[in-house]
Amino acid sequence: MDMKQIPARSGNHNLQNYQQTYKNFNWDEVKGNFTWSKTGKVNIAYETIDKHAEDPSKKNQAALIYTSPDREEKLTFEELKKKSNQFANVLKKNDIEKGDRVFLFMHRSPEFYAAFLGILKTGAIAGPLFEAFMEQAVRDRLEDSEAKMLVTTPELIDRVPVDDLPHLEKIILVGGDESGSHISFEKEMKNASEEFEIEWLDLEDGMLLHYTSGSTGKPKGVYHVHNAMLQHYQTGKWVLDLKDDDVYWCTADPGWVTGTSYGIFAPWLNGVTNVVRGGRFSPDDWYGTIADQDVSVWYSAPTAFRKLLSAGAETAKKHDLSSLRHVLSVGEPLNPEVIAWGLEAFDLRIHDTWWMTETGAMLICNYPTMEMRPGSMGQPLPGIEASIVDNEGNELPANQMGNLAIKEGWPSMMRAVWNNPGKYESYFVNGWYVSGDSAYKDEDGYFWFQGRLDDVINTSGERVGPFEVESKLIEHEAVAEAGVIGKPDPERGEIIKAFITLREGYQKSDELLEDIRQFVKKGLSAHAAPREIEITDTIPKTRSGKIMRRLLKSWELGLPTGDTSTLEE
Ligand code: PRX
Repeated sequence: MDMKQIPARSGNHNLQNYQQTYKNFNWDEVKGNFTWSKTGKVNIAYETIDKHAEDPSKKNQAALIYTSPDREEKLTFEELKKKSNQFANVLKKNDIEKGDRVFLFMHRSPEFYAAFLGILKTGAIAGPLFEAFMEQAVRDRLEDSEAKMLVTTPELIDRVPVDDLPHLEKIILVGGDESGSHISFEKEMKNASEEFEIEWLDLEDGMLLHYTSGSTGKPKGVYHVHNAMLQHYQTGKWVLDLKDDDVYWCTADPGWVTGTSYGIFAPWLNGVTNVVRGGRFSPDDWYGTIADQDVSVWYSAPTAFRKLLSAGAETAKKHDLSSLRHVLSVGEPLNPEVIAWGLEAFDLRIHDTWWMTETGAMLICNYPTMEMRPGSMGQPLPGIEASIVDNEGNELPANQMGNLAIKEGWPSMMRAVWNNPGKYESYFVNGWYVSGDSAYKDEDGYFWFQGRLDDVINTSGERVGPFEVESKLIEHEAVAEAGVIGKPDPERGEIIKAFITLREGYQKSDELLEDIRQFVKKGLSAHAAPREIEITDTIPKTRSGKIMRRLLKSWELGLPTGDTSTLEE
């Protein structure tokens, strides 16, 4: 097959010639699918679950298929409606009101999904945290959001600095001792009614806070509102190509935006059976999940595909993957060789999609009905205006590299950065949302990702801010200064590399370096711990004291150092 262009396949939703068909597409056209076109009020939890539970032909369909090495469970739409109602009642009993922040710090499980939906039903704002976070990461997020309540587990509670969080009033423990000092999830759920009067909201009311990293400062709370459902729903059709009897699997954890927008909202807004897999990655378990659950639509990430690729064709051949119809990818550049492998392993194209925590949903994509150019992220969705702009927000001609930017105002756009209006404003230039990615657009309107323009690191599809890692490193007794960069890596995209200087009295040793690595791992999380640490005499800084990560990167990669006129003596 000619790998330069892979021809279109058929899809369920007509996007052939979409630029013509949808030329005048307006997102308002999607609104008719939801309650507020009739009542003026809305709640995304109603649209994802209750609506289907009220439909006699759908209520007994599996909404959630949970599978993990030690637990299997199915919940129908009706059961999930009842369980989330129960949890909403538990929250109300504990004084949770519209707009309060309720965080979830736990592994994927049926309880997680019931609790997440229950939070939304009360009109509170949900804040899911990745279970691998350690104390500092948990503290930063709960502090900034002033979370009033936390749902967690006995295994993780030690990482919650309860005494230092004055706004945190109550903790609900899932799977804990029913007589303990915290609220027991199981005990409260047993006593809670399965009926709940949903809090009806306005489109612009808040639903979700996702913390994500930038190049400076602590992680920031990206704030999303219920209106995002328009785009979750519609991209579920156009891009995920969902139809009623699909079995869909998104491999992302709900601690990241992919795991909520596309691990919760898009499939359920479309009434589709959603597979959730707990436990660690293993090629056999992953292929096994596709085979056992008859997964037809699969949304994953380049880092996972690369691991499956290196596990070899034999591993894939052991499993019956014939249920698969449509495969998609997000989070990092999708290498053409991975697409070639997908054609071989599944006889399917892997469709790249581009978007970010801040954008809330897909923006630039490859659709089933579109000719694909491997290496390209695809084209903007109908109703989305994307372009390449210079630093002043002027559009650049085709094939010129610049800032990948989106015209303000798509439905799922973040509405604020929590507690940080200045940061929010800084994303917008001349009416464009400037993504921080560099890219170019070819003559035919395909977008090609080139890299990040800031120092944000993308390791195995996870976004890590160098500042956070540097701050943790210099808390270690042996470290004087630290500068952190992303270093290209064939499997992980990038790995984290730290340059450090040592304090007086400390000598370089393998034990010390390992101790420093563990220190970051235990303080922040495993994915933020540097895989490589190098001791240097100085960390290059500008005269104003900013770490010159660009220079560290040039040194590391043996590239020309460029302009060093601002370098401190
Ligand atoms: O650099 C881009 C990269 O991931 C960043 C967004 O990360 P995050 O907010 O964690 O969201 C990830 C999942 C939505 C982007 O700024 N990125 C995302 N998708 C792609 C990508 N890089 C290349 N190709 C993609 N398809």
